[in-house]
Order: sequence, then C-alpha cells, then structure tokens
Amino acid sequence: MSESGDIHIDHLYKSYSSLNMEKEPVYVLNDINLDIKDGEFHVFLGWSGCGKSTILNIIAGFVEKTQGSVQIGGNEIYKPGVDRGVVFQNADSAIFSWLNVWDNIEYGLRIRKSPKPERSEVVRRCIHLVQLDSHEKKYPHELSGGMKQRVQIARSIANNSHILIMDEPFGALDSQTRRIMQNELIQLWRDTGKTILFVTHDIQEAVYLGEKISVFSRAPDAKIIRTIDLPQPHPRDLTLPSFKTIIQDIQDLFAEEYVI
Ligand SMILES: Nc1ncnc2c1ncn2[C@@H]1O[C@H](COP(=O)(O)OP(=O)(O)O)[C@@H](O)[C@H]1O
Ligand SMILES: [Mg+2]
Repeated sequence: MSESGDIHIDHLYKSYSSLNMEKEPVYVLNDINLDIKDGEFHVFLGWSGCGKSTILNIIAGFVEKTQGSVQIGGNEIYKPGVDRGVVFQNADSAIFSWLNVWDNIEYGLRIRKSPKPERSEVVRRCIHLVQLDSHEKKYPHELSGGMKQRVQIARSIANNSHILIMDEPFGALDSQTRRIMQNELIQLWRDTGKTILFVTHDIQEAVYLGEKISVFSRAPDAKIIRTIDLPQPHPRDLTLPSFKTIIQDIQDLFAEEYVI
C-alpha cells in the first residue's frame, strides 16, 4: 500500500439521514472537490455548523459519506486507519483518564504488539517532540489543557500516522497557550513532514498556520468557496500589511456569504 498522504476528494456529498424526513435530502456537504498534497498544512475554515467536523470525520473514516469519493494515496477511504491520527478539541474524551502520559502515548503500539525496546524508544521520542519530558508519569487530571492536547498529538505521532487530522484542537485553550501550541505544531510539521488537516473557525488562526486555507460556505449545502495559497514562511507576523489584506479578504468573503 502506498505511503503517500495525497488526499483526493471528488464530488463529495453528505446528508445525515436524520435530517431527511422522507423528503428531499438535506445535504450538509454539497459537492466538495479538493486535492491535498502529501506534506501539506491544510486548514478548513468556516463558521460553526458548516460541516467542518463532518468532512474531517469522513476523511478519518468515522462517518460514512453519502456520495462521491475520498481517496488517500489512491485508495478509497471507508474506515479508520493508523495512517490517520485524530486530535479532537475535547482532550478529556480522547485520552484515557486511567493511564498516565507515557501509557496513553504507548497504547496503540502496545495493542499492535510492537517490541518493547522499540516501543519505548518511539514513546520517548514522541514525548520529547511535544515537550512533555518531565511529565510522563502524570495522569490527565494533573495536566493543563495544553498538555493534554500535546498527549493527543504525541499519541498520533507514536502510531506513525502520516496524516494528522485536527478538529479545533486549540479552541479551548487560553490565547497564550494557544500561540505556544500553534508554534509547536508548525515546528512538528517541519520536523516530521506530516500532512496536517486542521479545522478552525478562527480566521487569524487559519492565516497564522495554513499553507492552504479552504473556506467553507454556510450549511446546509456547504461548499468550498475558495482555497487560498499561503506560501509565506512561519512564524508569521499577522500585523504585516500583506496578512492584514488576506484577513480582510476572508472577512469580506464571510460577510457576503453570511448576509441575512
Ligand atoms: N450525527 C449527526 N446527525 C445529524 N446531523 C448532524 C450530525 N452531525 C452533525 N450534524 C449536523 O450537520 C451540520 C454540520 O455539523 P458539523 O460538521 O459538526 O459542523 P462544524 O464542525 O462546522 O461546526 C450541523 O447542522 C449539524 O447539526
Ligand atoms: Mg466541529
């Protein structure tokens, strides 16, 4: 099987059956077409309820699509796989409260019966990557929100997931911790070359992080109304005029889109 993280989305539609009521289907996502290159940092930006979690969950293999195609490395996606690691906004429901940091990160490797010395080496490296070195014996209730997000991220990397799927992962953090985590994520992306799919409703966060930003229209029938290229290097200074223009353009796009 191909190791490529190229993602190809073709005429994707999603309707939750509970919304159908025996009438015409109500599509949450209506004809999404998108190519994401291996190693790309791709941000999905849109307001609440537009279908961002839905599309991530389809790519992760948790939610069934209604119509269309989603391929990774040329293979159609229909279930979760270790090639994709998911980082959720709510770390408390994603990490095991009864396992310490080390054991949470080691969990997937243990399940797959990876040999112990190799396993320890991988866990140690991942803990170091997310800067939790002195916290490996701590339990989730002893960790801050940012540290719990680091555990989720480290666990995905330990599982050797080539694609990191992140659903508003820093949304619940205070602004200072959030900026630290954003910078760490950029560093990790550079160090590992992983493909990152990152959902946010925050325009500033999208422009601070993304190599590409796909802007969603409102639901129902959400589409990608624009995909913006951002080749500018990181770290980015959003007070520069060029970034201010991009932020203003996106705000204008939303103002048009969400007009009542
Ligand atoms: N399991 C579900 N069953 C029915 N409707 C759902 C389900 N999950 C999400 N929806 C609906 O689909 C739309 C998009 O939701 P979601 O993907 O969570 O949006 P976002 O993440 O952008 O806030 C919303 O109207 C939401 O109510
Ligand atoms: Mg969501």
